[in-house]
Amino acid sequence: MSKNNSKVISRRGFLQGSAMAIGATTVGGLMPTSFAIGGTSKVRVGILLPYSGTYAMLGNSITDAFKLRVGIAGGMIAGREVEYIPIDSEMSVPKAPQNTKKLVDKEKVDFLVGPVHSGIAAVMAKLVGPREGPIMIVPNAGSNAVTGPLCADNIFRTSFSNWQPAFPGGKVMADDGHKTAITISWKYGAGIQMMAAGKSSFEQNGGKVIKDIQVPFPDVEFQANLSEIAAAKPDAVFAFFSGGGAVKFVKDYAAAGLKDKIPLYGPGFLTEGVSKAQGAAAEGIKTTLHYSGDLDNPANHAFRKAYNEAYGKMPNVFSVQGYDAAELIIKALTQVGGDTGATGDLIKAMSGAEFPDSPRGPWRMSAAHNPIQDIYLREVHDGKQKLLGVAAKDLEDPAEGCNMA
Ligand code: PHB
Repeated sequence: MSKNNSKVISRRGFLQGSAMAIGATTVGGLMPTSFAIGGTSKVRVGILLPYSGTYAMLGNSITDAFKLRVGIAGGMIAGREVEYIPIDSEMSVPKAPQNTKKLVDKEKVDFLVGPVHSGIAAVMAKLVGPREGPIMIVPNAGSNAVTGPLCADNIFRTSFSNWQPAFPGGKVMADDGHKTAITISWKYGAGIQMMAAGKSSFEQNGGKVIKDIQVPFPDVEFQANLSEIAAAKPDAVFAFFSGGGAVKFVKDYAAAGLKDKIPLYGPGFLTEGVSKAQGAAAEGIKTTLHYSGDLDNPANHAFRKAYNEAYGKMPNVFSVQGYDAAELIIKALTQVGGDTGATGDLIKAMSGAEFPDSPRGPWRMSAAHNPIQDIYLREVHDGKQKLLGVAAKDLEDPAEGCNMA
């Protein structure tokens, strides 16, 4: 291994041990066999993720796990060194076109990894797809449109569509015997789409949403909204917030005295990666998501151990999505012998990709390039997610409006 590889990720000693641990379960047989055209140059990975603001934890978790996976492969992708070109998205939709163009046209990246935010994802998808490279991998943003009307041959997602983790949650709330609910979220793509999905399954199962509350993104002043909820007295509340905003919302909800009166539900982002910071306020909150830290499979155990050794903390769903984004690139680029110019074959390899050993459990890429995956029901216990069961098996996004050329 060259000297440069050690720059890819620090705490290299840990990773070498981890590589062996995980290699046995997830990457066996995936090491590069040949070098192809351009094989001596670095693979250029452009990253557009939030490193500041309410979603900073998400961007950092994705980046850390992406680098962990590459570190496990010896700091190489298909035998080639990797150059990361990261940009802080600042969660800014207005800045998204210039940030995307910088990575695509100026930096000429081979792969574009990002974003977290649904609004930015739609901007990027319009600029990037469908065309001959770069290949865009979405490691979080759930915008339904990205694997719906904006779907494209060169756009893949390793996370979820906004519909996916939210739809099963509505049924959970109805199955718990609740008849009325209020939804509350930030007013932008992700919140609007997740609340619509949760509402539709709640109502299909006999419930009634009496009010949808939308808070400007990324505001965290919830007092007026909480007073409105207290006055309306629904049976339950279904909420989407994430990162720093989720910490504040869940704490404010408890402080307003609502926690024991009106149970909170939502897509798992409400407590994911933040339940420790939320403390007692998060205890007992039930959510649905495509990951739970306590999933009992060998890949998850190895992943959590390696991540903890590398970064001194436990991973979350965002890390899993970043890890699988790297896994997808490694798998596909290895199949084409490291040739980043073989766009057609790379796309073919990614389209048929299967992940039998993901920390989230097995998943595969749908025809619209979105994960077909299990959605788990979890509950916060002692600051951790406790797996209660599978809320939806092998869930595939309907991908309405996707006509892949
Ligand atoms: C999104 O904007 O698509 C988004 C952001 C944060 C999440 C989930 C979805 O936790």
